[in-house]
Amino acid sequence: MKTPLIALTLLALASCAGKQAQAPAEPTLKDYFADDFLIGAALNMDLINGLDPKADSIVRLHFNSIVAENCMKSQEIHPEEGRYYWAAADSFVDYGVKNDMAIIGHTLIWHSQLAPWFPVDSTGAKVSPDVLKERMRDHITTIMTRYKGKIKGWDVVNEAIEDDGSYRKTPFYEILGEEYIPLAFQYAHEADPDAELYINDYSMNKPAKRDVYVKLVNDMKAKGLRIDAIGMQGHMGMDYPDFTDFEKSIEAYASTGCNVMITEWDMSALPTVSRSANISDSVVYNTLFNPYPDGLPADLSDHWNARMDSVTNILLRHSDVISRVTAWGTHDGMSWKNDFPMKGRVEYPLLFDRDYRLKPFMARRLNQQ
Ligand code: XIL
Repeated sequence: MKTPLIALTLLALASCAGKQAQAPAEPTLKDYFADDFLIGAALNMDLINGLDPKADSIVRLHFNSIVAENCMKSQEIHPEEGRYYWAAADSFVDYGVKNDMAIIGHTLIWHSQLAPWFPVDSTGAKVSPDVLKERMRDHITTIMTRYKGKIKGWDVVNEAIEDDGSYRKTPFYEILGEEYIPLAFQYAHEADPDAELYINDYSMNKPAKRDVYVKLVNDMKAKGLRIDAIGMQGHMGMDYPDFTDFEKSIEAYASTGCNVMITEWDMSALPTVSRSANISDSVVYNTLFNPYPDGLPADLSDHWNARMDSVTNILLRHSDVISRVTAWGTHDGMSWKNDFPMKGRVEYPLLFDRDYRLKPFMARRLNQQ
């Protein structure tokens, strides 16, 4: 399974035979998980543009896969019909190529951060099914063609199903019905036959959602469409997901013959709050919802680390079907969770803390190899 640290050390020493003995190499996440799955991080533009050099060093040392946090979403990359903005996505892809990483494109068809023009005509009315199909095909083909041979795989459709198992009523669904999903996969495969294609969503542990995804993927496979992996985003908290359901979902998704990926892993350490909560009283907000602006208390930190360690055990138990685990960011200071589902909270959800130190549960694993 894992390359023991002693072997790494001997290798390091052997490679400097004749030279002065050096300290053993720092253990890395990508070595630790080398026999299990790719280990990735979502990159923001600060990192890519050199404005977060410590995060850049972490990514180059520890990760062998990257995904675009925002720069490939339709509102960023295709803000007006027929006008693409490539600069950011090009730099992201160049970064991955230069560092020899498995590059993941995120995401082609998604209702959120959707370019406003996409589903409507010049009067603001919904476009016809034929027009939307043509726009989807053009969007998917243009982007995938540009990065052909460089991007390993794409989140083709993101967040299509609600937690209760119903189809999310996105503009794509409202205009094309369920068919928009297989169509997107067909266009993607035509655009780059060598690219892996993924479907991706959150709350993938939930049984009602799980059943629908298993059926959807089996139906697409029965039609002969390519789909390589089911992405479980893996946004977690101190009281969710139910780990038994999470593990059952990994098994159920693998039963389709697809790989499973944990695509956006993080774990909120703060009180769970509903997305719709709108707290205007700042005292209530601070005491209830942003309680640890100066650091997570030790007992909570221990609990967070124990939960992350349990998740890691589950992932390793299923490493035969899990092909990639990607953290949704690098360090706590840059996580989207500082602003979601509430703005301005001090969150602690990632593998590295605000001082760029690996969190204890993972540091222990790396040092005990
Ligand atoms: C988030 C980004 O991290 C934020 O910077 C942005 O403001 C909103 O989107 N599910 C997804 C990701 O598939 O694309 C989202 O990323 C987080 C939830």
